[in-house]
Amino acid sequence: MELPHFALDEWLSSYNFATPPIEFDLASSTGPGFTVAELAALGGGLDLGDIALSYAPAQGSAAVRAGVAALHDADPDWVVMATGASEALAIILCLASEPGANIVIPDPAYPAYEGMAQASGLATRSYAMQGATGFSLDPEAILAAVNDATRLVLLNTPHNPTGVVMPRPVIATLAAALAERSIPLLIDEVYHPLYFGAPQASAAGIPNVVVISDLSKAMSLPGLRTGWIIEPDPQRRRAMINARSHFTISGSPVLERLATHALINRHAILARLRQVADRNRAQLAALIDQSGGQLAWTPPAGGTTCFPWFSDGRDSRPFCAALAAAGVLVAPGDCFGHKAHMRIGIAHQATGFDAALERFVALL
Ligand SMILES: Cc1ncc(COP(=O)(O)O)c(C=O)c1O
Repeated sequence: MELPHFALDEWLSSYNFATPPIEFDLASSTGPGFTVAELAALGGGLDLGDIALSYAPAQGSAAVRAGVAALHDADPDWVVMATGASEALAIILCLASEPGANIVIPDPAYPAYEGMAQASGLATRSYAMQGATGFSLDPEAILAAVNDATRLVLLNTPHNPTGVVMPRPVIATLAAALAERSIPLLIDEVYHPLYFGAPQASAAGIPNVVVISDLSKAMSLPGLRTGWIIEPDPQRRRAMINARSHFTISGSPVLERLATHALINRHAILARLRQVADRNRAQLAALIDQSGGQLAWTPPAGGTTCFPWFSDGRDSRPFCAALAAAGVLVAPGDCFGHKAHMRIGIAHQATGFDAALERFVALL
């Protein structure tokens, strides 16, 4: 089997893991980073010395599941830990797979949805988020993409790369409509709870909804490779825990301890994220306003990324390459199948976002 070329990760890796790495990273979708020492220092410190280097329970330790449950206002019993949202997704897609089946995904989308569906033998059907004036998540468009072979509908809110958010009551209506067709609604909430308007509760617990999320994005700790599934149905949950035993056996007890510590201290981590994202978002909004109409965007309503575009429809890749040569990384829209766009991460650069934008304007 040949999986699609992962152009986004190739682009990010070729600059972020270069020697020296790119000066300003406005391409990544993670929050501002932490070292182990910075994380451990939160909340009065952390001792890892007593951890037995054995397997952890396949579902995850009770402590880490309690931390996840607090973040989503869910029941700890509903939580199944995974190695990133990536493994959470792999488990769910594997269990949904059957000959001829498909999964409905957004366009544009995090590229692994397509690749992992293919790896699980599932076809994909897309719902378009782009309209004449910008991006939106429209439940009617989502339902229109469903057919008799659909086994799962995937919604990513806040959405990568556009920053579009579906309000919780609309999610509940969509989930109910899908329940009538016995199709679960899978919600990728890795950017929850970063909303720029009114705060929004997690979709966990809405009937017919399965949530996946992680510590990589809003929680800004991708190096902990920690993700999870929130599945209230005990029978489906058992199948997921069983799948995890096959896939990766369990998480690392060391990483679960660090993850628990991060979740206990989530208010400090999320406050830092919000401060960085709010400031950078406002600076980017000013740049787009002052671009003389060269750039347009749908202002992000949540999450760490947005997806502005060149109004004249030109391919953004030459601009992104020239900008990278000037020390500023943004991701070309062709990584998401939308050439005129570029993904800009507003939450990763805790400092220097303004200096990076000065170089951006100079190149424009
Ligand atoms: C929308 C979305 N979902 C899931 C993932 C997977 O992240 P991880 O495996 O680090 O949890 C990513 C990573 O970029 C993402 O953007």
